[in-house]
Amino acid sequence: MARLAGKSAVVTGGARGIGEGIVRRFVAEGARCVIADIDVAAGEALAADLGDAVVFLRTDVTSEADIVAAIEACVSSFGALDVMVNNAGIVGVTGPIGETPLELPVMVRQGSGSIINTASTAGVQGGLGPHVYTTAKHGVIGLSKSVAVEAAPFGVRVNVLCPGATLSSLTAGLVTGDKDNLDDAYERLSSKYVGGRAPKPADMANAALFMASDESEFMNGAVMVVDAGKETLSDRAAKFYPIPTR
Ligand SMILES: NC(=O)c1ccc[n+]([C@@H]2O[C@H](COP(=O)([O-])OP(=O)(O)OC[C@H]3O[C@@H](n4cnc5c(N)ncnc54)[C@H](O)[C@@H]3O)[C@@H](O)[C@H]2O)c1
Repeated sequence: MARLAGKSAVVTGGARGIGEGIVRRFVAEGARCVIADIDVAAGEALAADLGDAVVFLRTDVTSEADIVAAIEACVSSFGALDVMVNNAGIVGVTGPIGETPLELPVMVRQGSGSIINTASTAGVQGGLGPHVYTTAKHGVIGLSKSVAVEAAPFGVRVNVLCPGATLSSLTAGLVTGDKDNLDDAYERLSSKYVGGRAPKPADMANAALFMASDESEFMNGAVMVVDAGKETLSDRAAKFYPIPTR
């Protein structure tokens, strides 16, 4: 049985990187998705690849009207909004602004829903990103916990995914200066992980899949760090925690 059969989702920043990995995995598990992204070329290419299970809508998450339109597209195309993945984000002084809970009215009417907000290990610890990024990601976690309390009586859950350094154009740009240099980026990122293997978007999608599915129905206001212990365990602990290479 597909784990997301019959569910529909909006994934912001769904055209590339971690968001693309989430869209691909959700569709593979039976969900239908709105790819809500500002990158039209990448979004249309992914939509062409995945076919009827997805709709691409050019969406800038800094625009409330765009977010509302993405939610309406999900409801009109697929009949509901079961999962909202607020994933779009950039490294920069403006930071992510996709976390306003505009999806709540739809989910409250349904009496169910799973909101997944992508923060970062930079949301639980200092020194892992620029000041504004770190501040914004801590804010994502605070907002998520706060909204989780408000949403719980309506059957709506709000949880946070905190990726560690994961291969994407975002990290490729940071570690090599070239966002398209994924091979070099993967090598450099992997050298930072015990076991020599950095996570890829598909690894984050595994965690998002659990958070989106009914298997996590008792998880609300939770912060899921997915970093192989890289940032959240001490160096000493990490030595006792080998990650198998593939
Ligand atoms: N890659 C990592 O190591 C890492 C680690 C921790 C957290 N994160 C977080 O994960 C999320 C995804 O990052 P990624 O690494 O996949 O980045 P990415 O740059 O590969 O992909 C981000 C996607 O978001 C889209 N986007 C950017 N601004 C947008 C906007 N205003 N409106 C709509 N879409 C927009 C981009 O077009 C792109 O498709 C971000 O919130 C990021 O902060 C990433």
